[in-house]
Amino acid sequence: AAVKKYQFDIQVRNVSRLCHAKPIVTVNGMFPGPTVYVREGDRVLINVTNYAQYNMSIHWHGLKQHRNGWADGPAYITQCPIKTGNSYVYDFNVTGQRGTLWWHAHISWLRATVYGAIVVMPKQGTPFPFPQPDREVNILLGEWWNNDVEEVVKQGNKLGLPPNMSDAHTINGKPGPLFPCSEKHTFAMEVEQGKTYLLRIINAALNDEFFFAIAGHNMTVVEIDAVYAKPFTTQAILIAPGQTTNVLVQATQVPSRYFMAARPFMDAPLSIDNKTAAAILQYKGIPNTVLPILPQLPAPNDTAFALSYNGKIRSLNSPRFPANVPLKVDRHLFYTIGLGMNPCPTCLNGTRLTASLNNITFVMPQTGLLQAHYFSIKGVFTTDFPDRPPTSFNYTGAPLTANLGTALGTRLSRIAFNSTVELVLQDTNLLTVESHPFHLHGYNFFVVGTGVGNFDPSKDPAKFNLVDPPERNTVGVPTGGWTAIRFRADNPGVWFMHCHLELHTSWGLKTAFVVENGKGADQSILPPPRDLPPC
Ligand code: C2O
Repeated sequence: AAVKKYQFDIQVRNVSRLCHAKPIVTVNGMFPGPTVYVREGDRVLINVTNYAQYNMSIHWHGLKQHRNGWADGPAYITQCPIKTGNSYVYDFNVTGQRGTLWWHAHISWLRATVYGAIVVMPKQGTPFPFPQPDREVNILLGEWWNNDVEEVVKQGNKLGLPPNMSDAHTINGKPGPLFPCSEKHTFAMEVEQGKTYLLRIINAALNDEFFFAIAGHNMTVVEIDAVYAKPFTTQAILIAPGQTTNVLVQATQVPSRYFMAARPFMDAPLSIDNKTAAAILQYKGIPNTVLPILPQLPAPNDTAFALSYNGKIRSLNSPRFPANVPLKVDRHLFYTIGLGMNPCPTCLNGTRLTASLNNITFVMPQTGLLQAHYFSIKGVFTTDFPDRPPTSFNYTGAPLTANLGTALGTRLSRIAFNSTVELVLQDTNLLTVESHPFHLHGYNFFVVGTGVGNFDPSKDPAKFNLVDPPERNTVGVPTGGWTAIRFRADNPGVWFMHCHLELHTSWGLKTAFVVENGKGADQSILPPPRDLPPC
């Protein structure tokens, strides 16, 4: 194992897209940011120095940070922000994980431009459990706003309404030729006839789940959220914000130029965002004058495709990479996901859009929750988050008014060390137009079941997959449906869980788990680093 060091300078830089130039926050002036390239077992030191006039914090999405929440990054959850002119070293070991993950700003909406890939290579001499690719290419899907994103969010908050939608979708920071002034902002990858390519696809968008396809080429899915999967071949993939998908692509078609394209999946008639980001897959020797062919993407509301695609994802569950699904559950949790409104006298309609879990809208604290927990600082949070929704809350297709007025609070759930947890997330179908991609920090979990309509505790658990369910860190809870996950609480700390649609997170669709220390010497939270940003 080696020590890998990175310097991340947070700097503002002018970037132009769609005929608009504007200053954006970047890492080292790059958009998207630099790739963190490490090997399983490495120790990683990333010194983040903030030269911008914004508070900053960076999250290493999907790295488990065993006993080391101090390096996890979500602002006010595991640390206070790195203020202008200050630095913080994220110091962590990458153990027991390999694959594609990513990093992003975890404060306000700054991740709109502050994000990049994390590639964890398997240990030296350990091959992939699939054909070795000739080359690897990172594909980061994102969004672009013509206006300053922080201003857009502020405006939305003031009015109590959703902020403006993004103006473009992007592939590696570039919208592609279907957007105005974007011919020169088109990502292109060159391929050679007969070779195999590993695409590491990351959905870094704030608010869009994407279909992604390559004209004329099938993709073989081999890894999801940095966990090897049973390979399957598909024309298109579906990827929610926060998720990663590795696919193998063989350059065996007629040498030409082919579009790769990404367009949102929104499973409601309300879906209005069907902008298409495009990039080019170009066979070697083919001139740029050849007009590329567009791939066929599933229709924006193709829920049948979504259901069937997600159903194909399985853990590899091989002798070398077994799926250790908890078979016995110590703690059953049932959380309803609600979108609704709260009174807001200063807002445009006298109400503000709000989101809740078990009818509780999470309020961000002013002190890092992990510090508050570690140093027993009173009055920052409570640990009375309910295991189930209030019985009076009718979530079964209730009218909008049923969710008018949620309880505000910084309420967490306390989990015993090493206990096995089952969490059923139930969407309540109010106002929802897309699946909620739920992300849990500090853990991978097994997606043991999912379904449409209301979860039936007397029937549905019998159908759970406890053999080879997908193991991941972010899962889409279908609109008007449910998803059941299981994990073993073997990582002590305070771990954020939230919808990875930034819109919903900012409305309060989040909570955190306090996982207690175990009794063993190596079962408790490590001491905080000395340069941890003060609050
Ligand atoms: Cu990628 Cu808490 O997020």
